[in-house]
Order: sequence, then C-alpha cells, then structure tokens
Amino acid sequence: MGVVSDSVQILEELKTRALVCTQCALAETRTQVVFGVGDPRARLMFVGEAPGQNEDLQGEPFVGAAGKLLDTLLGEIGMQRSEVYIANVLKCRPPGNRDPRPDEIESCKGYLREQIRLISPEVVMTLGNFATKLLLNTETGITRLRGRPHNWWLGAMLVPTFHPAAALRGGDRVTGQMREDFALVRSLLEAPPQVAEPTEPDLEAAQMELFG
Ligand code: URA
Repeated sequence: MGVVSDSVQILEELKTRALVCTQCALAETRTQVVFGVGDPRARLMFVGEAPGQNEDLQGEPFVGAAGKLLDTLLGEIGMQRSEVYIANVLKCRPPGNRDPRPDEIESCKGYLREQIRLISPEVVMTLGNFATKLLLNTETGITRLRGRPHNWWLGAMLVPTFHPAAALRGGDRVTGQMREDFALVRSLLEAPPQVAEPTEPDLEAAQMELFG
C-alpha cells in the first residue's frame, strides 16, 4: 500500500476511534461526534470551532446556515465541498454553543493534529477567531490576521478568515472580506509550488507544542 492510501486508511481508523470517544464530558451531551468530511487528500482544509445544533444532529460540520455560506464562497472560487476537507477544533457540540473549554481542547486536539498530518493540505483556512488564535498560537484577533497567508506547521500556509456566522450577522462588509480571503486561497492553490520560506524556529516550536 502506498503512503497516500496508508494515510487514508489511518484517517478512517482515527474516525472510528473518535466516533466513540469519551475523553471529555461533551460525550455525555452530544448526539453525534462530528469528525470531519471531505476528500482525505484535499489540498485545502477548513478548520472551524465546534459543531452547532444542526451539525450535532447530522454528524457533519457546517451544515446549517453558516455552512450554506461556506459552500457559496467555495463555489465562487470554483470549488465544491467534496474537494476540500472540513473539520472543527472540537468534535462534539458544547451545550448551548458555549465556547470550548481548555480541558475540552486539550482532550480533543490530538484528533485535529492527526487529521492535519494525514491529510497534509497545502492551505489551511481557519474560520473565525477561535480556530485562528488556537492554530496560530496567538492572542492577536482575526481582524488583524486575516487577508494574508501565514507560514504554518508542516510547510502549509494558513489563511485566517471570519467565521461564516459572523458574516451572516455582519452583512456585506464581512462577506466581502471573506470573498477576498477565498480569492487569496484560490491564488495560493493556483500558484506554482514555491520554496516555502522557513518558518521561524520559535514559531514552529510553539506550534509543535500546541499540537504535541
Ligand atoms: N460553526 C463551527 O465552527 N463549526 C460547525 O461545524 C458549525 C458551525
């Protein structure tokens, strides 16, 4: 078996384990684990915060109104949901959609780390402040981080953008900025492979610690 099909198989095994995970208390309140969907060899991966009510019921990330907007923005850059991979930081819904707690992130982050390692996307797009701050290991807000690519872990580029739910609340201005960020992703995927600038050693170390 080649390296690629090996990683597809290992991702399936990881999913099988995640679907019965009881590593944190969210296991008691969830309806379903929302592991992630899409192409296990995707070049583009999205990372959101945590499942909401619709996702908890259907077992798939971004299926509510925010997901529809995500599909629309993807369509505008000529891509479909089935070509990308979509996951969240947390795989289970926090009751009442409250913010994820540190112990829940700690219990769950190994799943996301392995998803990223196995899928090995060229571009990771974080959706919203929460996923962006966590993956870039920063306190800087999304408004200052979006609009440009960041050299990231394992040679991937990370492009932060707003959470689609924020665009649904914030109207045309936020949606317009998300459109710009999606166009940037498109251009990164179209550009001939670049010799990645080395990630600063300190930054890489911080990111490894986050995912270690
Ligand atoms: N919001 C998220 O961050 N993720 C989902 O899957 C749905 C809504």
